[in-house]
Amino acid sequence: MITVIGSINMDLVVQTDDFPKQGETVLGQLFTTVPGGKGANQAVAAARLGGQVQMVASVGNDSFGLELLENLQANAVDISGVRQSSEVASGIANILLSDGDNRIIVVSGANFEVTPSYIDEMQESIRKSKLVILQLEIPIPTILHTLELCSTLNIPVLLNPAPAGGYDKKFMRYTTYLTPNETECEQIFGMDMESALESHPNKLIVTLGSAGARYYDGDRHIIVEGFKTEVVDTTGAGDTFNGAFAFAIVEGYALKEAVQFANAAASLSVEKFGAQGGMPTRTDVEARLGSDQR
Ligand code: ATP
Ligand code: RIB
Repeated sequence: MITVIGSINMDLVVQTDDFPKQGETVLGQLFTTVPGGKGANQAVAAARLGGQVQMVASVGNDSFGLELLENLQANAVDISGVRQSSEVASGIANILLSDGDNRIIVVSGANFEVTPSYIDEMQESIRKSKLVILQLEIPIPTILHTLELCSTLNIPVLLNPAPAGGYDKKFMRYTTYLTPNETECEQIFGMDMESALESHPNKLIVTLGSAGARYYDGDRHIIVEGFKTEVVDTTGAGDTFNGAFAFAIVEGYALKEAVQFANAAASLSVEKFGAQGGMPTRTDVEARLGSDQR
């Protein structure tokens, strides 16, 4: 069982030819609502590949909340650990999409009700996990509390430190895998990427967009090339990488093979619109791994 403890958002996506400058109004092309949130996205990514996945999270008691829960169930994610807040609205992400790139503002709402005491309430479910996945869209005290709990229970943790603003140096000690992108890596470690990687062998995995991902194996820098593809929407590429990486690790893949599997899955995800729209099945990923698109 993979347990994702993290956010669930409704993504309010606007497609536009130009991002507006401060004080400017532009006309957009399209408005859509699609399920998102880094936690939910990573849960769906792992479940679509065939993983057994449960979420510990919170949505509002509103129409977005219901839709978000239905979406998780439709993707075979166990939602018995998702609480419904009567006090706060479901989390949303305001996403501006332009030219394959995005700008995102998250309003956390009910996600901030994933408190340390809620983690304690869910301890028996969490105990069943082979791996726990965390991101930084729930309260930061909950992250440290969960990391300490998992360390006590001997459960490995994949921490995707996004958004990186909430990262705390105390996290690393309890983290099995840390998966920032290049910008997040610099923000977190405040040093060049090579030095950060060398300080955390086989533990720090930096995603490199279309170039794939890299880590240091204690002896050499390992660069695992990405797969070439036509990009429609990169929203959720990182989440697909993390969900797929977690799935592969739980399946027993070695680190390099797990990163390769995650690159293949994420390259498929960017070919379709929406964070979860392009998330692949295991058969899709195996076909891409067997292709010659690197
Ligand atoms: P995002 O915020 O867009 O979800 P991210 O910034 O967290 O992503 P990236 O390093 O940009 O993380 O991408 C994560 C992974 O997705 C990469 O390691 C790679 O495997 C895959 N990926 C991203 N962009 C592309 C692309 N243009 N072509 C192929 N694969 C891609
Ligand atoms: O990583 C992409 C996700 O970040 C979006 O789905 C959005 O909800 C934000 O949380």
